[in-house]
Amino acid sequence: MKRKRKDIITIAIDSPAAAGAGTQAKYISKEYNLFYLDTGKIYRLIGKLRLDYKNKFNNKLIKKKISKLKINKLNDKKLLSDEVANSASIIAKDKTIRKIVKDFQTNCAYNPPNKYSGSVLDGRDITSVIMKDAKIKLYITANLQVRAKRRHAEYKKLKKKISFQEVLKSLRKRDYLDKNRKHSPLKKTKDSILINTSKLSKKACFIKIKKIIDNKIIINGNL
Ligand code: C5P
Repeated sequence: MKRKRKDIITIAIDSPAAAGAGTQAKYISKEYNLFYLDTGKIYRLIGKLRLDYKNKFNNKLIKKKISKLKINKLNDKKLLSDEVANSASIIAKDKTIRKIVKDFQTNCAYNPPNKYSGSVLDGRDITSVIMKDAKIKLYITANLQVRAKRRHAEYKKLKKKISFQEVLKSLRKRDYLDKNRKHSPLKKTKDSILINTSKLSKKACFIKIKKIIDNKIIINGNL
């Protein structure tokens, strides 16, 4: 990492798939003027490379792509499919691949562009590995049925043909893979605040999170 900006707000979020962490991270970034990185998109990008390049997929290719990676590439709608998500979960087990993307993530976390007051990252290993010293750590979750319903509705909006049962099955499988892998598994760290969004609307959830952040700002003077 080139340098670490001092006195910035750092917020780390981990969550299983489709729990609403991305939506909340976006609200947080807007409210507190923070740079937002959806780290899952990086794994999805590599998952897609695996599908596109097949037997030409290797670490050299990944390194090359990540070294040239521009943030706006992560907005590619092609990264949103269930097939790409599943492929992401498979490549995410690999220790070397995780190492390749670590620098990119830490740079966004600790050296966000100057116009931002800090950063908010979401993923699976943000509180436990990437931003261990984040000023605020959240673990956002919701029960599997609720998550599958939400993801199914998103796919419908994107006109992707996939049944509710398929979405449920694939989220269950991804939960298993992400929580039980050897390297950087998804887990709630002791110092993370648990937010269960199963019965909360997006807005209600944000009100809860905003209170947590504002309280911390009041107690510490700043973050
Ligand atoms: O968050 P999203 O569902 O887009 O992530 C896709 C997959 O990428 C996850 O299921 C997980 O396997 C992997 N991932 C990860 N570590 C992160 C973010 C995502 O292993 N920090």
